[in-house]
Amino acid sequence: MRRACVTGGAGFIGSHLVDALLSRGIEVTVLDDLSSGRVENLSTHEGGLDLIEGSVTEPAMCAAAVRGCDLVFHLASRVSVVESLEKPSLYQSVCAGGTRRMLEAAEAAGVRRLIHAGSCSVYGDAPPPIGEDASTAPMSPYAAAKLEAEEHCRAFAREGRLETVCPRFFNVYGPRQRADSPYAGVIAIFAAMAARGEAPVIFGTGEQTRDFIHVSDIVDGLLLASVASGVGEGRPINLGSGQATSVLELATLLGCDPPSHAEGRRGEILHSLADASLARRVLNFESSVELEQGLKDPRLLRPNNA
Ligand SMILES: NC(=O)c1ccc[n+]([C@@H]2O[C@H](COP(=O)([O-])OP(=O)(O)OC[C@H]3O[C@@H](n4cnc5c(N)ncnc54)[C@H](O)[C@@H]3O)[C@@H](O)[C@H]2O)c1
Repeated sequence: MRRACVTGGAGFIGSHLVDALLSRGIEVTVLDDLSSGRVENLSTHEGGLDLIEGSVTEPAMCAAAVRGCDLVFHLASRVSVVESLEKPSLYQSVCAGGTRRMLEAAEAAGVRRLIHAGSCSVYGDAPPPIGEDASTAPMSPYAAAKLEAEEHCRAFAREGRLETVCPRFFNVYGPRQRADSPYAGVIAIFAAMAARGEAPVIFGTGEQTRDFIHVSDIVDGLLLASVASGVGEGRPINLGSGQATSVLELATLLGCDPPSHAEGRRGEILHSLADASLARRVLNFESSVELEQGLKDPRLLRPNNA
């Protein structure tokens, strides 16, 4: 591989993937509209990186971004379940429509494979541990649009137009995850509150569980998905740690003050846990960062760090 396109490359996960690609000597084109991503996430790089500021909903931007690329890592997306309830058509247009535009551009440019950043939210409230054969039951416009995006990926692969793979991320955390947005992930918010000595507010009982996986493990999974054989038919592959942690346990691990509670949120899934055995089998993927270890990283508190 000489050059890869990373959509959403200025964001939390995308910028770590960009770091990993550049450190392997692979040139990168990032397409990002900077709606939640930040240029500072890419500022440590001097060469080998082109940033195109634009949207995956615009065909001309997509075409420019994939030029000369062997691979596309498609991470650009709106990412909030709550916001998607307020703006369903925006989510439909960016997540599903934007994926279709990227697939068309990648096919036209002769790209070998597109790896789509999927989400465990497509499983809805499926009983844990969740394997890829669990039925999908999206509970929000975000989840529905992410599933539709995957279906576009599978259609392109089925029609022989492009290889595609659809890793489904569980709850990702790590440095550069934003804490300053109403839609931030729970670890980023709790870590910031713990640092300020503030008690966190938990929606619902706090007994809801999540499968937290470190961003460096997700990057490994994406790189493995880009080269693995036998998965290019748009195969969904869970990327999770296989460990369940409750929100209350998380607050304790982060050293938060005793939390207060607010009413549970509409569309929120109660328990989420990956059956990660397919990724082990077909990608040779194993998550390596234990949650306790990952939470000790002081960079969790510095949003613009390297
Ligand atoms: N963080 C998680 O726990 C998690 C879990 C499951 C799936 N995912 C998926 O991983 C991907 C990356 O998420 P993240 O957590 O890094 O979020 P993020 O918000 O940091 O990254 C998304 C990036 O996409 C960009 N973007 C948004 N709309 C765009 C558009 N129309 N055109 C171009 N760029 C656009 C944003 O500016 C941002 O840089 C997303 O596809 C998300 O659905 C994340």
